[in-house]
Amino acid sequence: YRTMIKKSLSFLLLLASLSTTAQTIKIASPNGQQLLTFNLESNGTPQYSLNYKNNAVVLKSNLGLALKEAEDLQSNFKVIKIDSTQVDQTWNPIWGEEKSIRNNYRELQVTLEQKDKDARMMMLTYRVFNDGIGFKYSFPSQKNLFHFIVEDEHTQFNLAGNHKIWWLPGDYDTNEYPPRESKMSDIIGYKSAGDDEIHARTPITKPSVQTPLMCKTDNGLYISIHEAALRNYSAMNLLYNDNNKFESTLVPDAVGNMVYMTAPAQTPWRTIIVSDKSTDILASRTILNLNDPAKEGADASWIKPMKYVGIWWEMHTGQKTWDMAGTQVASQNGENQSNVSKHGATTANAKKHIDFAAKHGFGGVLIEGWNTGWEDWFGKWKEDVFDFTTAYPDFDIAEVSRYAKSKNVTIITHLETSGSVTNFERYADTAFRQMVKFGSQACKTGYVGKIIPRGEHHDGQWMIKHYERMAEKTLDYKRMLVAHEPVRPTGLHRTYPNFMACEAARGQEFNAWSKGNMPFHETVLPFTRLMGGPMDYTPGVFKIKMSHYWPDSKSQVHTTIAKQLALYVTLYSPVQMAADIIDNYEPKMDAFQFIKDVPVDWDETKYLAAEPGDYVAIARKGKGTNDWFVGAISDENARELVLDFSFLDKTKKYKATIYADGKEASWDVNPENYQITNQVVSSKTKMKVKMAPGGGCAISIKAI
Ligand code: NOJ
Ligand code: CA
Repeated sequence: YRTMIKKSLSFLLLLASLSTTAQTIKIASPNGQQLLTFNLESNGTPQYSLNYKNNAVVLKSNLGLALKEAEDLQSNFKVIKIDSTQVDQTWNPIWGEEKSIRNNYRELQVTLEQKDKDARMMMLTYRVFNDGIGFKYSFPSQKNLFHFIVEDEHTQFNLAGNHKIWWLPGDYDTNEYPPRESKMSDIIGYKSAGDDEIHARTPITKPSVQTPLMCKTDNGLYISIHEAALRNYSAMNLLYNDNNKFESTLVPDAVGNMVYMTAPAQTPWRTIIVSDKSTDILASRTILNLNDPAKEGADASWIKPMKYVGIWWEMHTGQKTWDMAGTQVASQNGENQSNVSKHGATTANAKKHIDFAAKHGFGGVLIEGWNTGWEDWFGKWKEDVFDFTTAYPDFDIAEVSRYAKSKNVTIITHLETSGSVTNFERYADTAFRQMVKFGSQACKTGYVGKIIPRGEHHDGQWMIKHYERMAEKTLDYKRMLVAHEPVRPTGLHRTYPNFMACEAARGQEFNAWSKGNMPFHETVLPFTRLMGGPMDYTPGVFKIKMSHYWPDSKSQVHTTIAKQLALYVTLYSPVQMAADIIDNYEPKMDAFQFIKDVPVDWDETKYLAAEPGDYVAIARKGKGTNDWFVGAISDENARELVLDFSFLDKTKKYKATIYADGKEASWDVNPENYQITNQVVSSKTKMKVKMAPGGGCAISIKAI
């Protein structure tokens, strides 16, 4: 733990003394490239702006909150105190994309007080990093601001142009929209194409977007806007007000209130990451750095990144069912495979998966549909669907658990809530205790459907507190947690290192039963969704056309096999599924070898090349090894990238195994065409990588 904290005002540029009304304070990042300006308007409205290498990124933008049944906290302020510090420390995550992370910033804290008799206080804290900024509001203990209700937060992001953006429409309940790429001004004309195939939508009616929002300016600056440490607060969407202006709006509760606060309290950090290099955006650790560290000294040996297989894709492709009676069959165009509709989570099928996992070195087996309730889970939206503990009679949980343990594999316990969250909270302790009893080290929660109680939203404060409570509770029980359909992550996995991953975006599943995910989807995700944390995307589908399951189906995964392999490197997560039905791997064991070899925990990461919506190429060094793994993916275009291997140790030689698209490969016509070759490489190698339309390339590089 190398830490340097300097207290000083020497790096602040004060442009007016404290006594005058309007005032300006400037603070630069340690390397001088980011320049933040705090400004207090003559009416007492706090403002900020941001410059990067002398380019305007955020023009003067107002800060403040409107309160319910109380005066707003948006104007009439004076500055009563200015503090600053500088921090330079390096910390080691329990797992991650690299073994050590530098946290280096300058901080400015401005204490404001309103100029009336109530003299309510609000603090603004800005941290200026070399790759961007974070800022938050806080409310110290005080007499005239104690319990209060936020009507909305009015943080503006007045951008300097009509940038190109990669975005999802604003919504209170879902982040499973397909990504859009357009100019900012096109947000206004946006209408749902009606093909989003998302069940629990609550779209914001005004033009708006979700975060993480990725922008690119005409002169080649990359800007990412998101939030960090979303705790006891509602998620933020951004309203678009034309003229390149965004303004925060929060997710309301059932009666329309945005957030309930009790001082001392604070908002999450609002983050703006900026660089002229796209790969710097991916390399940014600012969101993690803005989150609280994990409890120091706590035993973390039970937290184990892992790969897993599961009884899962067979349900999504209509081959098996979650419910025992076999009534809940996924279908397409009314096509049901009635002859094959039967329960997936049987003792025998579980053992088959455990055998496969043990044989191929996987840590876990996800079993969905093991517990009673699935007859009623979808569409009926009843409150008391699941009890999260009672197994179906054809699933012998004790025997399956015993068998898994004997093979050194853990069962990943599936806990789908179907949105009935009060019900889940009622049973959560019992469910986690049962996991402890049966030795299941990880669970996968899910929040399909509208939240019960009615009126709460997936992204509102009530649910934000729920997700954190579950992270806390599973930590107490020493269980790992993966969540599907929660709010978009904001770096909380630093604080709760057992909170391994979330789906929280349009995952692989959409390729089974909907129009699916367009080939550029996975080139956007690292720049948007993954900015907040790891994603349980569930890559590794080898049987790509859904006509394999439903003869008339036009659906498919928009990929080649090589691209599916590359995703294990480009979509970072400490838990990665090999998502296909395990039988589909048997005929392609040579390609499957990459999935067996690729680690899920890393010492180093190098971002080789990337452009949102076009391509991504990343190299990572496996934890505690000399082996490197490279993943490169393309959008719908064929593409050639030259990858510079100078990241390799200069004194070593390596054997590279290259899993590439075959000559005939393309995502639509010939997605399963691949070729595997070997080559000796060194730090001098510049490898030309050819990718098919919708294709990719995966390379394992082992020291010899
Ligand atoms: C949606 C999840 O994303 C998926 O992985 C799961 O199989 C279904 N819900 C059922 O819980
Ligand atoms: Ca999902």
